[in-house]
Amino acid sequence: MKLKKEKILGERIFLRPFNQKDSLEYSKLDRKLINTLGKAKKFIASSWKKDSYYFGVFLNETKKLIGQVELCHMNWWEDKAGEICIFIKKDFRKLGYATESTKAIINFCFNKLKFRKIYADADSTNLASQKTLKKIGFKLEGKIREKNFVNGKWTDELDYGLLKSEWRGK
Ligand SMILES: CC(C)(COP(=O)(O)OP(=O)(O)OC[C@H]1O[C@@H](n2cnc3c(N)ncnc32)[C@H](O)[C@@H]1OP(=O)(O)O)[C@@H](O)C(=O)NCCC(=O)NCCS
Repeated sequence: MKLKKEKILGERIFLRPFNQKDSLEYSKLDRKLINTLGKAKKFIASSWKKDSYYFGVFLNETKKLIGQVELCHMNWWEDKAGEICIFIKKDFRKLGYATESTKAIINFCFNKLKFRKIYADADSTNLASQKTLKKIGFKLEGKIREKNFVNGKWTDELDYGLLKSEWRGK
């Protein structure tokens, strides 16, 4: 089953699937590996496929692209669960946009897709990501030791989970 393309509304932002018209803006999003128009076009062409769906995060006021949310590793039939991953452009960080975008995708997953659980992970050196997930209500469930290689060092992956029964639709 493939996810239907739709727009998800937040207070200051909205999420929607990318289209090719977003390519130039996407190439300026500070994604390290996708920093040219050509790479952005290629990425966008494959940004909506079975088990990996990317939504752009856009400001309501200016319609400017400020980040992305990925919804992946979905198990629709048995587990009713999926994983989310968020990225916000550098100039727009620490303004609450990751919190707002994550809450918007969580509401979509629980209310529309009827998920039972949502997973997310954070590198042990990524305090911003850990803080965002904890603030929203994710619980730390485990640690995969020396999973990532960050700045010349092996680091741990911290695994978080959020159950629908814990979510109050914040
Ligand atoms: C992680 C990330 C999405 C956070 O985005 P953001 O829009 O700055 O987050 P918010 O403004 O919603 O902040 C959420 C919380 O994290 C805290 N925070 C944000 N950046 C921080 C930093 N660099 N160091 C410490 N805390 C930080 C905020 O203060 C806030 O907590 P508070 O409300 O208790 O003060 C962003 O830093 C990012 O895109 N990083 C690169 C990609 C990434 O690591 N993604 C996560 C892995 S999937």
